[in-house]
Amino acid sequence: MSRHRNVRALNYEDDYYDEDDVYGHSVEDNYCISPGTAEQFTFDRDRNVALANYMDEQEVIHEEEEPGEELTQHRVSHDPARPTLSEIDEARLNSCLDEVRSVLGDSVPEHVIVEVIVRHNFSIEGAFNELLNQQEAPKPQREPRDNRRNRSQGEKSSSASTTKVATKPDEFPVSKPAVILQSPKPKYPSDATKPQLQTSDPVDNVKVDLKSLNVSSQSSQKVADNKNSMLSSDIKPDDSQVPLTLKPDIEAISAKGGVNVAKPEKDCLTVDNVDSGVGERVDGNSLQATPKKERFIPPLPKSSSKSKYEKFDLKQEYKKRNSSKEMLNLVVIGHVDAGKSTLMGHLLFKLGKVNQRTMHKYEQESRKIGKSSFMYAWVLDETEEERARGVTMDIAQTQFETPSKVITLLDAPGHKDFIPNMITGTAQADVAILVVNATTGEFETGFESGGQTREHALLARSLGVQQLLVAVNKMDTVNWDPSRYDEVVKKLGQFLKQAGFKEGDTSYVPVSGLAGENLAGPVKEARLAEWYKGSTLAEQIDKFRPVVRPVDKPVRVILSDVFKGLGAGLTATGKVVSGAVQLGDRLSVMPAGEYTVVKGISINDEAVNFAFAGDHVQIVFTGVDITNVGVGSVLCDCQTPVVCASRILARVVLFNLEVPITRGFTVIFHYQTVTEPAILKKLVSQLNKSTGEVVKNRPKCLTKNSSAVVEIELEYPVCVELYKDNKELGRFMLRSSGHTIAAGLIEEVLKTKTKDGTE
Ligand code: GTP
Ligand code: MG
Repeated sequence: MSRHRNVRALNYEDDYYDEDDVYGHSVEDNYCISPGTAEQFTFDRDRNVALANYMDEQEVIHEEEEPGEELTQHRVSHDPARPTLSEIDEARLNSCLDEVRSVLGDSVPEHVIVEVIVRHNFSIEGAFNELLNQQEAPKPQREPRDNRRNRSQGEKSSSASTTKVATKPDEFPVSKPAVILQSPKPKYPSDATKPQLQTSDPVDNVKVDLKSLNVSSQSSQKVADNKNSMLSSDIKPDDSQVPLTLKPDIEAISAKGGVNVAKPEKDCLTVDNVDSGVGERVDGNSLQATPKKERFIPPLPKSSSKSKYEKFDLKQEYKKRNSSKEMLNLVVIGHVDAGKSTLMGHLLFKLGKVNQRTMHKYEQESRKIGKSSFMYAWVLDETEEERARGVTMDIAQTQFETPSKVITLLDAPGHKDFIPNMITGTAQADVAILVVNATTGEFETGFESGGQTREHALLARSLGVQQLLVAVNKMDTVNWDPSRYDEVVKKLGQFLKQAGFKEGDTSYVPVSGLAGENLAGPVKEARLAEWYKGSTLAEQIDKFRPVVRPVDKPVRVILSDVFKGLGAGLTATGKVVSGAVQLGDRLSVMPAGEYTVVKGISINDEAVNFAFAGDHVQIVFTGVDITNVGVGSVLCDCQTPVVCASRILARVVLFNLEVPITRGFTVIFHYQTVTEPAILKKLVSQLNKSTGEVVKNRPKCLTKNSSAVVEIELEYPVCVELYKDNKELGRFMLRSSGHTIAAGLIEEVLKTKTKDGTE
């Protein structure tokens, strides 16, 4: 069983516990100076001593040198190849040198870096640009022996003299352009003000730090002048001064009545500074927007992965996989204490997913704390707090098999305090089991207004769940009374129809999670067997229709948790919502706008080479800083990244509202794994619920059960997709004061307004 690790809940203060000793320690305890020394070195205003007297300019204190460190100690001041510079320039050079070293390490010789920095007039950006381009080029190859023999002596000596300068083509021959900065014919003549990066092979060649491509016109000119180099530029001199950041092209979004999310051209990564209204947040809970200030993005890791990882024909692999068991994501929802965890825990035990010994242990331990009735719930309620309180708090995830399906089970919490977690789980599910408590009075509590039976069913439907299995649980408490079962089915049937579930897509089974009746295998309870001849719970789960997955669409992996694993890179859990991902794939991490390479994929703790839409994966990726990735980040296709939006236009259906909604109403925007505060900025129009026609433009307020088009402004940007492009990613929920007030579909992404009102 795996559970999303709540990284946010970690108490980081614990990590610094030991350091407190150091901070609390007084240095004076074991340190003293003589009065003479104090007299000499302590500044005393009364003595009218000039501070400058304490500084002896003549005296140079030489540090002791360790033999091995000679090179680094003298890396700057004793290098004979270094140009003579003024003091200020020397200081600037040293500071640039440190910056470059911190990124490149010792991979480039120092004299080369110095030369490049000086050439770029101490511009760190320019220097990085040139050095990184050189870095991407293959290492110098030894010339074939014949060529060397044939070469004249004079040529040899001249080439030897050029090897000192790193930027000379002889030292870094570029066999394949990392970035084509010049083409005979500009590809995007109409958009002269927007710098665009064109690559001959967009995925393979985008290795350059896009941010650092703040090429000054001077430096680009120099590169172009170098005839032997294959680097060239089509960035016009004035264009090149614009800082570039890999971001979804919100600027390209049509200004007319909102936005059609423009996807970048196939072989072009449009880069743009996207969102002036975007703030920076380093919070595990939500997305961190790329800070507006310029930030160095490391280059795309080298493509050694190409040779290392086998490339699979994903279409074939998907066909192969479909020929075996169908995979299905199943969420279990319902009112608090309806018996969800007990029901599914007992089912897992009956199906052999939990062994006798473990069950015995749970029985003993739960009895010790006086909660023996929760022993089956402990299979899914794994945390100490959940077990102590007897309440599920977070989504628990596990897998089991039926004759025709591999089911990923998501056990949702029922308590209303944990609805955000329930929404996260349901957003990842294809089908659902709604557990209701048949006990007299209990069913009514969950079903009445404000009960979670209603709210969960509505949420599930709004989040795209079409097939629903209702488990009428705790039938033992009503003596397996068929009339009670019929009553529950009738009441629920009417409501589910109104909520949008088709009759053919809903089914019902009478069960008892605690007694284990009608879960799997033949019914033992005579009072039930008398009147019920239908399927067991396991059989009914097996009857869910397979769902069509958007495997052909661009890849999107929505992250539900990110943490630092044992090995290199970051580990994240998430769901592949569309497309397919395989080892070695280069993806974009949004909204950070960084590149990453997939180094590991596992499904249900089993290492795999690829994963398809619908799979819940644990994914290891490199090249991204953990501060730039979080819950809600999306790993996506480099060529068609997701859009990062702060303002959206959406069609919403309002639920049972206590008070009508007006402009400026504050809500919580629930989207996949993200929860973000938002404001209803504009009520654009009220719609006819059945026909979708506009009933009223700019209504003053919206009442319950109405449908409308509204403009929503989010506090922080969220990676979204339009409903028309991706049905699963185009849905969201709005909550306010602990109630779900609306479900919505994203229709357009609007430009972000800056504080001064410009777009
Ligand atoms: P949350 O996840 O916190 O919403 O609760 P839950 O729906 O998972 O309920 P859970 O499985 O924790 O069970 C709640 C209580 O109901 C426990 O005391 C169970 O023993 C009891 N219970 C569950 N199923 C049955 C059943 O079929 N019959 C009876 N009599 N009690 C049951
Ligand atoms: Mg539970």
